[in-house]
Amino acid sequence: MPIWSICASLAKQQFGLLATVATFVASSGVSMGLPTPRSSDWPGYGLNASEQRFSPASQIDTSNVADLKLAYYLDLPHEGALEATPLEIQGVVYFPGSMGVVYAVDAVSGKLKWTFDPKAGPRIDHHQRMIYPVNRGLAYFDHKVYVATRDGRLIALNSVNGVEVWTSRFLTAGDHSTSTGAPRIAKGMVLIGNSGAEANARGYVTALDANTGKIAWRFFTVPGNPAKGFENDAMRMAAATWSGEWWKLGGGGTPWNSIVYDAAFDQVLIGAGNGSPYVGRLRGTTEGKENLFLASVVAVDAGTGRYKWHYQYNPGEVWDYKATMDIILADLTINGTAKQVLLQSPSNGFFYVIDRSNGKLLSAEKTGKVSWADRIDLKTGRPVENPAARYENGPFILYPSVLGTHDWQAMAYSPKTQLAYIPYMQTASKFWHSKDEEQLLYTRAPGWWNTGVMFESYVDPADPMDGRGSLLAWDPVAQKVRWRQDYPTFWNGGILTTEGNLVFQGIETGEFAAYDAGTGKKLWSFDAQMGIVGAPISFVVDNKQYVSVLAGFGGSGGDGCCADKKIWSYQAPRRLLTFALGGSAMLPKPDPALVVTADSILDDPNLRLDNKQVAKGEYLWGFSCGTCHGVEGRSLGAAPDLRASHAALDKPSFTAILRKNLLVDTGMPRFDDLKDEQLDGLYQYIRSVARKAKAGAMPSDHRVDGPGSTH
Ligand code: HEC
Repeated sequence: MPIWSICASLAKQQFGLLATVATFVASSGVSMGLPTPRSSDWPGYGLNASEQRFSPASQIDTSNVADLKLAYYLDLPHEGALEATPLEIQGVVYFPGSMGVVYAVDAVSGKLKWTFDPKAGPRIDHHQRMIYPVNRGLAYFDHKVYVATRDGRLIALNSVNGVEVWTSRFLTAGDHSTSTGAPRIAKGMVLIGNSGAEANARGYVTALDANTGKIAWRFFTVPGNPAKGFENDAMRMAAATWSGEWWKLGGGGTPWNSIVYDAAFDQVLIGAGNGSPYVGRLRGTTEGKENLFLASVVAVDAGTGRYKWHYQYNPGEVWDYKATMDIILADLTINGTAKQVLLQSPSNGFFYVIDRSNGKLLSAEKTGKVSWADRIDLKTGRPVENPAARYENGPFILYPSVLGTHDWQAMAYSPKTQLAYIPYMQTASKFWHSKDEEQLLYTRAPGWWNTGVMFESYVDPADPMDGRGSLLAWDPVAQKVRWRQDYPTFWNGGILTTEGNLVFQGIETGEFAAYDAGTGKKLWSFDAQMGIVGAPISFVVDNKQYVSVLAGFGGSGGDGCCADKKIWSYQAPRRLLTFALGGSAMLPKPDPALVVTADSILDDPNLRLDNKQVAKGEYLWGFSCGTCHGVEGRSLGAAPDLRASHAALDKPSFTAILRKNLLVDTGMPRFDDLKDEQLDGLYQYIRSVARKAKAGAMPSDHRVDGPGSTH
């Protein structure tokens, strides 16, 4: 049982840099005219405030999607995990790369118009290093494009030329958090959450004036140190549901993804994250404390940020369960009554329908395999938990895993079919308390993973669906699956649905496909030559409908089942792909040299390995390097495969890269605090896994999971 499976799950992504160019290029479609979003655009993360990801475009439909072709592609050198949903406004596609480099691309020709590099790499401190370097998207308002950087700056750019308009810091001084999310727009403000529950962070959403960057309000999702006074009554109320000195460990609740403006009730709905640390003993969960507002959806007044109501999915959260999965606003008729609801499938494996007027739970059912609870009691609104699930009296096999049945990969809702389309995963984690002090060391130290408990991936050999993902078409009124597509892999992309009655999704294998939204029949597919984790968009320019998606695998160590699965190389090209009827572009043939094989793995047969050092290195690997460089050094594309790296074989180079932070610009975090003995352990561990792989043990069909911790 390798301890690094903790981090296997944490496996994240690499990032790339592009020289700051920010050059102004007069554009054909936009030129100096100030673009205003049209109904054919895709101006926000989830399209519009309801975040249904239902495109009104209907030129591409079930009858002709078989003829959909690549219109153009744009190579994105130095990029890694591309989790973002692009925006499109008046003929320009905007999206961020892994480290928040902003790209503006002509939506018709695919030509790069400008880029802006916030230069986040060198600004990322030790305590932020283990949060995966990804960026899920941008916001657009009044001729400005907004990007949130990992080091906590919100930057407004002129949408025509990429020139910076203002920059504002949105992280509180000295806190341990970072940022990976897409900003949202509400009432002339830009809203952004923070990330990093695993690094002792306290969660909050900040609202900034979209024109000036001035902070308008801030809502914390968990209480701070009571001795310092509470920010508001909601924090006083929340503090009564905690005990111990939780604030010293951050508390968590980081709202790193879902922040939705609900104009119907003039409120902002916030999806709060998991507890920090994972183990609840230090925050009162063993005494039955609920720990508000962990794993909750919280409604606050849009103008002031004042608390209105909340619904907590997991009272006393202890499994890395969170409410950060996207929230969709919809109108449903339930038992003959029209309701304005929110739909959410948070990580705990249930699908919830909640009344937005008051936060009351209307229904909740399991979307798949769930072991921590039997059901949700609609009278109390609380889960009926499995008594063993809290792992206090022994190890527990938790379904779903820390990744959830659903992570940040966006679901979609079609008012046409009245179905929600969920990127679903079936994975499990084993949780247990360890007495091994060496194991526990890294679960407690800031700058590593602040979990306080051990967990690793688990696969039931008798269940062929374990470690696999699906696209579920979910009826939110009946709370039932209407159709499903099962995939070999679980770490797949987000969903787009359209008026043309189509559902689009890209998956880890690199397949980008379209399905009939009503029946689930596969109608079209394209080999993207690169795993897809982001969500597609659709828009219309000059009466032509386009579908765009970013191809750039990463953000998790998870790789699902199947011996024939592809492993994406760090060096393989990441791209923007755009499709249209009548497109005629072709992707170049993939370079076979980019695939790591037993031949490309390096070993120095004269090097003698010390088993004790290897074992120490393995521990450390699991809490640090494995996150990006992969389980047993088998990179899935997030970072270079160190088994095949000359720099990792040559001890002086290896030492210099870590000691002197040589590669921070290009995404390798700071590890200059490692002691000589730790460095040697890591070096020896890498050599040992390389030697094993060279000897023919190239793992290809084992399954791993990982938090893909983009929190
Ligand atoms: C957050 C992700 C991340 C973590 C964690 C991480 N690395 Fe890296 N590492 C990278 C990326 C990305 C690169 C490639 C940078 C580039 O393209 O120049 C890299 C490059 C390297 C290289 C150079 C490889 C080559 O062939 O150029 C070495 C050696 C290395 N990392 C070792 C480590 C070790 C040892 C650890 C753990 C202590 C570690 N890394 C943790 C992301 C990470």
